[in-house]
Amino acid sequence: MRIIIYTGKGGVGKTSVAAATALRAARMGYRTLLMSTDAAHSVSDSLEMTLSGTITKVEDNLDAIEVDMLHELETRWKEIQKFISDFLMSQGMDGITSKEMAVLPGMELMSALFYVEDFHKRNSYDVIIMDTAPTGETLRLLSFPEVSEWYTDRLYGMVKNMLRVARFTVGKMMTMPLPSEELMKDIEILGGRMQEVQKILTDPQITSVRLVVNPEKMVINETKRAFTYMCLYNLTVDCLVVNRLIPEGSNGFFKDKLEEQHKYMDIINDSFNPLKILKAYQLPLELVGLPSLEKLGDMVFGDIDPTTHFSVDKPMDIYSRDGMDIISLKLPFAMKEAVNLYMAGDNLLVEVGQYRRSIALPTTFTRKEPSKAEFKEGRLLIMFEGDKHGGTRKGK
Ligand SMILES: Nc1ncnc2c1ncn2[C@@H]1O[C@H](COP(=O)(O)OP(=O)(O)OP(=O)(O)O)[C@@H](O)[C@H]1O
Ligand SMILES: [Mg+2]
Repeated sequence: MRIIIYTGKGGVGKTSVAAATALRAARMGYRTLLMSTDAAHSVSDSLEMTLSGTITKVEDNLDAIEVDMLHELETRWKEIQKFISDFLMSQGMDGITSKEMAVLPGMELMSALFYVEDFHKRNSYDVIIMDTAPTGETLRLLSFPEVSEWYTDRLYGMVKNMLRVARFTVGKMMTMPLPSEELMKDIEILGGRMQEVQKILTDPQITSVRLVVNPEKMVINETKRAFTYMCLYNLTVDCLVVNRLIPEGSNGFFKDKLEEQHKYMDIINDSFNPLKILKAYQLPLELVGLPSLEKLGDMVFGDIDPTTHFSVDKPMDIYSRDGMDIISLKLPFAMKEAVNLYMAGDNLLVEVGQYRRSIALPTTFTRKEPSKAEFKEGRLLIMFEGDKHGGTRKGK
């Protein structure tokens, strides 16, 4: 199965390009699903048809779904949510507030990712094209599997604590619900499934992220940052789609714009090299409905199969050289000053700006000390050396 995730700054054309890609893939014979995880759901407008939280057939080989978070909360999360809300009510909170409080942050994000895992397991589609919300929200979504371990641990801990409290106060709080075995199992399963999602998302043979950009300064800058953060989360960006280009030869008001565009195209080419760059021009018609999406798809891909892996480079690489263990992390555009590294137990925390990733170190690393870190050709190299325990071995 192939998963292609489109992301980028607000309004750059993510939804249009995602829909055009899906249409083209379907018409080439791939069983395709176009999935929107953006709460603003504009895929229906783009396809000019009504979609919902259940799968709708668009045409042969093409299905679409707009993940409905509310529906998800009421179905997938029913047990956990009910338990937490019952607990809060037993503590004197009123019904409505306790229901609201029981919606843990990130639940809706997890739901969207569970779809991906579900379809992958069932091999329902050859290709899933994901249309996402603007960059910040999408990063939250894609970094989620990374933090989910922490999350499920917390949930697990919280439920366990409730059990403990309940035991101590039996008699006084007979109305308090006790977590069932099933609930504890549910939480464990949840953690396991998130790990599966993580595997799928970080396998470049399956998943690629594509950045949509316009030839404008602020958009380019945000796209650079997005690229860095995708790498931080070990996601493979396989191409850049420059959308809404003014056609060459335009004159009048567009002449100046065109000059500016040349300048920005140079910046894009220089900055993102060797990333594959695809282009789409501003169409003179409203981009809604299948015929116009087909035109957009033709423009972006020409003769190229839209499911092509333009890159299968993994941003993170771990290897040994000259007695040193090295973690090499591709971090294009990351400023040295914005990067902080910390050790937390057997985890290495890499912080870039406001985003942070915790890398679980392989066991060979945990016996060594981090000795130095340096930037080389857009990669952050972190070296581990020596023996933390001064050569003493276990069992000695
Ligand atoms: N190449 C193009 N030619 C003409 N119109 C375009 C083109 N690309 C996008 N548009 C139009 O620009 C608007 C924004 O596009 P779209 O909704 O695809 O962007 P988006 O990145 O998904 O936005 P959001 O961040 O709000 O989700 C739409 O009205 C769309 O029809
Ligand atoms: Mg959109």
